[in-house]
Amino acid sequence: MRAPLDPPEVLLLGPGPSNPHPAVSKAMAAPLVSHLDPYFLTVMEETMTDLRTLFQTRNHHTVPVSSTGTGGLETIMFNLVEPGDEVIVGIIGHFGQRLAELAHAAGAVVRPVDVPWGQVLDPLQIAREFENGPAKLVALVHAETSTGAAQPLPDIARIVREHDSLLMVDAVTSLGGMELDVDEWLIDAAGSCSQKCIGAPPGSGPITVGPRAIDAIHRRTTPVASWYFDLQRLFSYWGEEGSTKARVFHHTAPVANLYGFREALRLIHTEGMQARFHRHQEAHDLFVAELDQIGLSLFTPPEHRLPMLNVVNIPDGVEDAKVRSEMLERGIEISGAFGPLAGRAWRIGLMGTNATAPVVNRLVTNLAEVLGR
Ligand SMILES: Cc1ncc(COP(=O)(O)O)c(C=O)c1O
Repeated sequence: MRAPLDPPEVLLLGPGPSNPHPAVSKAMAAPLVSHLDPYFLTVMEETMTDLRTLFQTRNHHTVPVSSTGTGGLETIMFNLVEPGDEVIVGIIGHFGQRLAELAHAAGAVVRPVDVPWGQVLDPLQIAREFENGPAKLVALVHAETSTGAAQPLPDIARIVREHDSLLMVDAVTSLGGMELDVDEWLIDAAGSCSQKCIGAPPGSGPITVGPRAIDAIHRRTTPVASWYFDLQRLFSYWGEEGSTKARVFHHTAPVANLYGFREALRLIHTEGMQARFHRHQEAHDLFVAELDQIGLSLFTPPEHRLPMLNVVNIPDGVEDAKVRSEMLERGIEISGAFGPLAGRAWRIGLMGTNATAPVVNRLVTNLAEVLGR
């Protein structure tokens, strides 16, 4: 006979998922209603409103796509891009590379603009790429989880607007943990996830899509190459702007998952967005100071560092996998790195509920013991 589920309690300090707040887990166990129940339609409305506040946007088209972050990004890419469209992709690490792959999958002619890992794009690089010809879309990662670097967006966004192009941003790691002002920064579409700084389990790909991007979708001459992720079909369920039309079945929304997501948004707005960003920054600063005391350093140059995701250099002679498995035995998950940083760095997240001084202290105490420092 199969034993009942009994997962270990782990402090999740990788690049996500982070540990959800207990109120989020409790909300997910609330009585299930149908995805078209009047109560659930209210939950959907509240979720859209709170998500707009988090993205700092008035965009009507702001919803958690039923997927993980990747599905939300795919929704944006597949709706904005038609086969043959030119797309400039800024690549500052692994997830920029994935954006290029998504654009390619949507049929785009991809024009990559890259920098060495750990660096970020200079807006002039994007301006120069436009000298090679117009592009329908520019796609960038805001918080590059593979390198721990934050890509500044407003200057690039202005250049994109001057060239009458659209800007799409991967905000999977940044949303809820640092400033991201979609309207003020002139971002046309952004996608994130539920399981990092928002502090819910994986299962939502929150997106926001602005009026210029919606216009581009209306001007398409070819159908969107996805049924499930077709934004216009999706909004027949989530509700078109100003429409009183009854919502039409598109898919069975993951009701319990959305309960959790809505609760996580409620907690964010109860705490206050600025207070939350500040808490993430403080946890990061404390972590860097404590790492320094045990002789460890970060890979990412100080001027580019993200608050919520730290890429820590593995000291010479230290075995990556051994340390991670000893940490896991102590109930703490930290993560390895990708590509050129594999075996050379750990990726350590302080996201959502875990961006606190007690968590940092427990982490560094255990890391020091495991490393014998
Ligand atoms: C920057 C970035 N983009 C995209 C993704 C993919 O998101 P998901 O795993 O939620 O599909 C991740 C996941 O870690 C990420 O860090």
